[in-house]
Amino acid sequence: MLSRDAVKLINILVSSDDFVSGSRIAQILGVSRATVNRLIRELEDVGFVVESHPRLGYRISIRDDLERIGGREIFRGFAAYRVEYMKECSSTQDVVDLLAREGAPEGTTVVCEKLSRGRGRLGRRWEAGEGGLWFTILLRPPSIKSLQLLSLAGGVSVAKSIRELFNIDARVKWPNDVIINERKVCGILIEARAEADRMQYVMIGIGINVNNTLPQDLQSTAITIKSIVGVDVPRAPLLKSTIRGVDSFYRKLLEGVSVDIVREWSLYSSTIGRRVKAVTPDVEIEGVAVGLDEDGALMIEIEGREVRKVIVGDIIHLREYKPSSG
Ligand code: BTN
Repeated sequence: MLSRDAVKLINILVSSDDFVSGSRIAQILGVSRATVNRLIRELEDVGFVVESHPRLGYRISIRDDLERIGGREIFRGFAAYRVEYMKECSSTQDVVDLLAREGAPEGTTVVCEKLSRGRGRLGRRWEAGEGGLWFTILLRPPSIKSLQLLSLAGGVSVAKSIRELFNIDARVKWPNDVIINERKVCGILIEARAEADRMQYVMIGIGINVNNTLPQDLQSTAITIKSIVGVDVPRAPLLKSTIRGVDSFYRKLLEGVSVDIVREWSLYSSTIGRRVKAVTPDVEIEGVAVGLDEDGALMIEIEGREVRKVIVGDIIHLREYKPSSG
């Protein structure tokens, strides 16, 4: 968690288009110059890209922060996460697929400014224009209990990062959307390559609407972080924080522990406790979402009697969500 002074420093730097001198920051915060240096390092640790100039002071990079971390390892946890930055590609899934076949190590992450053929779940197209955060992480689990859990882990990591960095009430919606005010801010696509008895690699594709402009037809169902904060926001901290979250869940999954993912997902869920309609490839089921099973399937209670498990499909929330008090 960031210290209070670090949060104040973010506000000072984000609200200024230009450099702010170290002595000015020290004066506003009422701290020493040494403390300013420590606070700057604190911001860099969580992923902010801070430019420093010996005479002018400091400035947070916002529009080009992803470009600036390109070619660098941004986090080392269970795996080492090195970011490749691209201006444009068809889909980051295609690029990572290619790199994986050439033997790229686990943790390789491709982030791209604009996708010409972004892919969504169930063969859908994904709109990915400039200003969003579009990336794919390569993992190489020897075997994995459930890809569904990995995808839930991605959603929880994004929702927690948005909450922590921007103080926004982001929630997860089954199976793997992140929503704000019932509108989609993030989608996740998991693709894997496996041989008969062995997993070769998994690609976690994450798309977050950050500073991008949404096409007209998505404006009533999708939302960007910028539209809530009111100004362009940096994407590198969101990338780093999400990767950090995915890494810690991934480690647990490899140890065979899934309870943490299910528990945390339920904590941030906007689906559990609600009346929903599940649209699966075979049937439509209406009832109350009562929880997840240990593999991440959604359990729906129909008319207070039978409980059915939904493994694949989409969910429509039928009743307004009211967060429980306390
Ligand atoms: C969905 O909700 O349908 C999933 C959307 C996933 C979009 C991301 S953007 C980065 C990665 N590259 C892609 O082509 N798709 C995923």
